[in-house]
Amino acid sequence: MQTEPMVAGIPQMGYGTWNRPGDEAYHGVIWALEAGCRHIDTAQGYDNEQEVARGIKDSGVARKDIFITTKVKPENFGPGQIMPSVRRSLEKLQTERVDLLLLHWPSIRNQYPLEAYIGQFAEVFDAGLATRIGVSNFTKALIDGTIRLLGDRKIATNQVECHVYMQNRPVAEHCEKLGIPITAYSPLARGRVVGDPVLERIGKAHGATGERVALAFLMARGMIVIPSSGKKERIVSNFEARKIKLTDDEVGQIAALDRGMRLVDGDWAPTWDV
Ligand SMILES: NC(=O)c1ccc[n+]([C@@H]2O[C@H](COP(=O)([O-])OP(=O)(O)OC[C@H]3O[C@@H](n4cnc5c(N)ncnc54)[C@H](OP(=O)(O)O)[C@@H]3O)[C@@H](O)[C@H]2O)c1
Repeated sequence: MQTEPMVAGIPQMGYGTWNRPGDEAYHGVIWALEAGCRHIDTAQGYDNEQEVARGIKDSGVARKDIFITTKVKPENFGPGQIMPSVRRSLEKLQTERVDLLLLHWPSIRNQYPLEAYIGQFAEVFDAGLATRIGVSNFTKALIDGTIRLLGDRKIATNQVECHVYMQNRPVAEHCEKLGIPITAYSPLARGRVVGDPVLERIGKAHGATGERVALAFLMARGMIVIPSSGKKERIVSNFEARKIKLTDDEVGQIAALDRGMRLVDGDWAPTWDV
């Protein structure tokens, strides 16, 4: 059934739902599934798990053919809180288990020690509430600590900001060495890639838009990408990126666009690896 490229069991292109409340998430999910996308990324913090579920249901695509990711928000990392919060997410998502469950951020300003919340997370996995577990916005040191604490359980991905203007190489290379795939969030640099002359020129050679080239570049690096749009035609167009095969020379030209432009940063964020 699954025809799109996969990375370690995860469909390489997903549809992101951050900042898409209510009907926007509902329609976006339906349009993404209609376009053939089979991976939907949501989070407790996006407050749209219910609308995502409604979209999935009304799309007519069977649940078993859809890869659902949700994320536990750090506000739920307190003692005994992760499991009940995931059960609430599953109820909203109308599913027995998610395909991938992530810790959305490390504990904010280290409010909770890593051992305490990773321990709870492992219990959620052992209880079968998620097929895979992973992390998001984790630095190299946090990844190493998590691996130690998870024992035999694998980190399925580290979801981090990554786009042509901030390629997040320290973390990406560290994860690559450890065999942990990167999921690139904000892969279109939140729309800033639009009109980039290098991407447009390469796009012309492939009969594609610059936005698609930006996504194809990350996929050429073995990353999973989860672009978002509230517009049907853009969702369809972005999903076409999976068909582009860039040459090594084109990948090199795009790699040179990196200028460390981090977009998602706040006082809740860990100290990033640079
Ligand atoms: N784990 C985390 O902490 C974290 C943080 C941020 C994001 N994420 C995930 O990553 C997903 C994607 O990231 P994002 O939403 O920050 O940014 P993004 O996907 O890089 O960019 C989305 C923006 O680009 C525009 N856009 C999309 N396709 C376009 C196209 N073909 N042409 C022109 N503009 C286009 C959209 O506008 P329109 O809607 O008007 O098309 C929107 O403003 C999120 O939805 C979320 O699921 C995770």
